[in-house]
Amino acid sequence: MPTPEESLLDASRKLLKSIDAGDWNAYAALCDDSLTCFEPEAEGHLVAGMPFHKFYFDLPPSKSPRLSSISSPDVRVIGEVGIVCYVRLVQKLDAGGAPITATVSETRIWQRRGDAWKHIHFHRSPA
Ligand code: GLY
Repeated sequence: MPTPEESLLDASRKLLKSIDAGDWNAYAALCDDSLTCFEPEAEGHLVAGMPFHKFYFDLPPSKSPRLSSISSPDVRVIGEVGIVCYVRLVQKLDAGGAPITATVSETRIWQRRGDAWKHIHFHRSPA
């Protein structure tokens, strides 16, 4: 039986995998419809809801593979809320086909719903 912290980290890894794979159904299943976020794509605005995120999943698939890894995670559970902070390493190819790694800092907030976690807020900024 995983600890709440282990299941939160597992949910976080599944979320990043869904983003890397462009798998909207998997991403949406992990998120609450009211998901809020600050991320660079939002140009400093707080975004609420899923349509903003779906836009990116609906784009033609990238020619570059992507692999996200979670580095130095900090996981806290406070009652029914989980907080996961880490540096995300994103391996991909640049325009010339050379492998590069992008790094971003992410804080993701989850709410426990029964046996599962639902993603309710995140903040991403350049590492
Ligand atoms: N832009 C979607 C996410 O990082 O969750």
